[in-house]
Amino acid sequence: MPREFDAAKTGLTDMTLLLHFCRASTAIVLGALVLSTASAQEPSPAPAVEPAQAAAPEPQNDPLARGKYLATAGNCISCHTREGGAPFAGGVAFKTDFGTIYSTNITSDKTAGIGGWTQAQFTRAMREGIAANGEHLYPAFPYTAFTKVSDEDLGEIFAYIKSIPASDSKPPPNEMGFPFNQRSLMSVWNTLFFKPGVFTADPKQSAAYNRGAYLVEGLGHCGACHSPRNFLGAEQSDQAMSGGVFNDKIPGGAVRRWSGVNLTSAESGLKLWTPEDIVAYLKTGHSNRSASYGPMNDVIGNSTRHLSDDDLAAMATYIKALAPIERSPKVALDDKTQRAGDTLYTIHCGTCHLPTGLGATPGTELGAPLVGSAVAQAPDPASLINIILYGGQVLSPVPEKAWKSMKALSDNLSDEDVAAIASYVRANWGNRGGPVTAAQVANQR
Ligand code: HEC
Ligand code: HEC
Ligand code: HEC
Repeated sequence: MPREFDAAKTGLTDMTLLLHFCRASTAIVLGALVLSTASAQEPSPAPAVEPAQAAAPEPQNDPLARGKYLATAGNCISCHTREGGAPFAGGVAFKTDFGTIYSTNITSDKTAGIGGWTQAQFTRAMREGIAANGEHLYPAFPYTAFTKVSDEDLGEIFAYIKSIPASDSKPPPNEMGFPFNQRSLMSVWNTLFFKPGVFTADPKQSAAYNRGAYLVEGLGHCGACHSPRNFLGAEQSDQAMSGGVFNDKIPGGAVRRWSGVNLTSAESGLKLWTPEDIVAYLKTGHSNRSASYGPMNDVIGNSTRHLSDDDLAAMATYIKALAPIERSPKVALDDKTQRAGDTLYTIHCGTCHLPTGLGATPGTELGAPLVGSAVAQAPDPASLINIILYGGQVLSPVPEKAWKSMKALSDNLSDEDVAAIASYVRANWGNRGGPVTAAQVANQR
């Protein structure tokens, strides 16, 4: 049996099926496939929604407007629109080690798109990951989260999707060799890891909490990048939202690794964020704690900034209520790394982030707080390394009290330098996070 597998963590009860599955040694093959597709989820750069197309907040009385609003909450456009292509016409490449999957055309075109689908077929795709022709869809399409969306909302999303102008654009066929092109393998994966089913509200919690849970866990699919996955690429429910990994495409076809931070209230997560910080961040890309600078620019630009203040407040309520899951260790550095890190930090970072790491407030020339920063302390240091090497690229329009984009420092620093600084930032001021190696930095170049 593959060594990292922990049946308890997967919530798996049918050991017989699992053993049979592993003995057939399909597991490795399937795992590799799913892991790689799952880790190459949302594409970039995605077209920002034109302000005129932005979903109107709280479109109470117009089902079509509500459908558009919900589709925006699900960020369908980011994954289903390729650069220069018609909106929702698909063709976005999801590169994996085993081949490339293309997102489908979901415009109202009867043949190229899903204009010929029935409501029942659409609901089955969203809730069970099965296409109209009965074939299994890959979980690069986050049906594992969309399964939670209510019938009513799926009806309104479908009505909106049907109103999207038809495009006959056909995505290229997937480039996947045997056995990865066998969609039927997904039925085994689904049996092991996927629990279909609509969100059920927790009666002990407030309406805001339940609305927030519905949006974060369902349409928002935040766990796709913020939850760790097991060796078969399934999100680990017992560690949900405690930090994940996401591979983004960069021009030239290469892939850059990112870490989705710990969103729970752990010290290495959002402990120091107020609900207002979370709302401001999801609304504008800026908060008193930090600015978005990576894949969150697409998430915020195409999705969350178009949501109503009530919905953002609900999401913040739910996120703040996530029980802390701490995966970043407290580490004392060896003297050599501590001294090197201290010197390099003082030269390259301290003027903006201050010797205390406390940073400043937005609207100044200075840097965001590194003390308690979720990016600095994430279980995987990829996003921390990225901002040092490539700087930040804050979302526009830039609000009045905003952070400036941090500049790239890759030219001035060797891999060893970046590793020492990153380790230093994680090991001081009460911060958490394992030391960073030069190899991890090299991997981000
Ligand atoms: C993280 C990226 C991502 C997001 C977000 C996303 N999709 Fe997709 N979707 C995909 C990919 C990739 C496929 C193709 C999967 C495959 O071929 O197995 C797909 C397939 C589909 C299909 C199946 C179509 C067919 O012809 O078989 C439907 C329907 C669909 N998506 C609807 C939506 C809707 C509606 C939303 C927003 C609520 C959405 N998707 C959001 C990536 C995404
Ligand atoms: C495509 C992957 C992806 C998705 C989907 C995603 N995130 Fe993120 N998130 C990231 C990454 C990567 C970072 C860190 C770098 C950055 O700014 O992009 C991050 C950072 C954050 C931060 C912390 C910012 C900081 O500076 O400490 C918050 C809060 C956050 N995300 C909330 C959310 C919420 C809420 C959702 C769902 C609506 C969500 N994210 C969906 C990838 C993602
Ligand atoms: C010229 C000022 C400046 C310098 C020098 C600078 N930064 Fe920054 N840094 C910023 C600003 C402004 C932000 C917030 C905007 C952004 O994300 O681009 C930021 C954001 C960050 C973040 C993200 C915090 C979060 O929670 O999202 C980290 C981590 C970081 N810097 C680390 C460093 C390190 C390490 C160095 C030295 C190698 C450094 N910075 C040098 C100005 C600076």
